[in-house]
Amino acid sequence: MTDSKRVALVTGASRGIGAAIARRLARDGFTIVINFAGRVSEAEKLAASIEEAGGQALTAQADVSDPQAVARMWDAAEAAFGGVDILVNNAGIMRLAAVAAADEAVVDGQIAINLKGPINMMRLAAQRLRNGGRIINLSSSVVGLYQPTYGVYAATKAGVEALTHVLSKELRGRNITVNAIAPGPTTTALFLEGKPQASIDQLTKLAPLERLGQPEDIANTVAFLAGPEGGWINGQVLRANGGIV
Ligand SMILES: NC(=O)c1ccc[n+]([C@@H]2O[C@H](COP(=O)([O-])OP(=O)(O)OC[C@H]3O[C@@H](n4cnc5c(N)ncnc54)[C@H](OP(=O)(O)O)[C@@H]3O)[C@@H](O)[C@H]2O)c1
Repeated sequence: MTDSKRVALVTGASRGIGAAIARRLARDGFTIVINFAGRVSEAEKLAASIEEAGGQALTAQADVSDPQAVARMWDAAEAAFGGVDILVNNAGIMRLAAVAAADEAVVDGQIAINLKGPINMMRLAAQRLRNGGRIINLSSSVVGLYQPTYGVYAATKAGVEALTHVLSKELRGRNITVNAIAPGPTTTALFLEGKPQASIDQLTKLAPLERLGQPEDIANTVAFLAGPEGGWINGQVLRANGGIV
């Protein structure tokens, strides 16, 4: 199989980091499955822009926390392109609350999307990803920083990191690597929405490089792990954060 026919499924690719990953992997020659939950027109616009640039893309609505929905999405990707080579588990939400104030919605919502979602996708990938493929999970540098109010969110990401290590070992013999990328604060709606300017300014200065991450910084890191030069990295968590931790 030639590299140009390799297929990358990116969850949560209608905006933010996932959209940047989809654009970058398309530029690198991958056919892209753009998963999203709600923002259909953004997903379709992204697919159109990839196709206009000479690439190939399919949009696929599926809530990652729903095992039947993601199985249907995987079926659709296989029907369209013959198989999946790269899974990027990017879909996620963040609901900040001190542990004392973390109500059921905060807890269940984040566990469903940030932890059960990647488990659903990793189970499918373990069964169906083509040999020689790559699994790339999005964690967060809050695992390491451990700031107040990030507890439930950080717990879901710590779970994703644990699964990354275990699955990399379970896939022995398939030539599939499993890694996580842990971004620091990155300029997307997930990070910016609802934050006072003072705390954005403080977080901007946290890294010795004195800026926020851009979605493209994270997409570059995914491209490295997905491409031929990242092939010897396996079972690792790569913090892409300008040096904050
Ligand atoms: N931004 C940061 O500072 C930062 C730092 C560390 C880690 N991360 C991680 O990076 C990933 C991407 O974050 P982001 O900042 O790009 O967030 P974002 O801008 O809010 O985008 C989130 C994406 O996830 C999708 N999504 C949400 N719930 C979903 C579900 N149930 N099923 C399928 N897709 C769903 C959204 O699609 P719809 O809107 O179409 O539903 C959207 O495309 C997340 O895992 C996040 O935890 C972000």
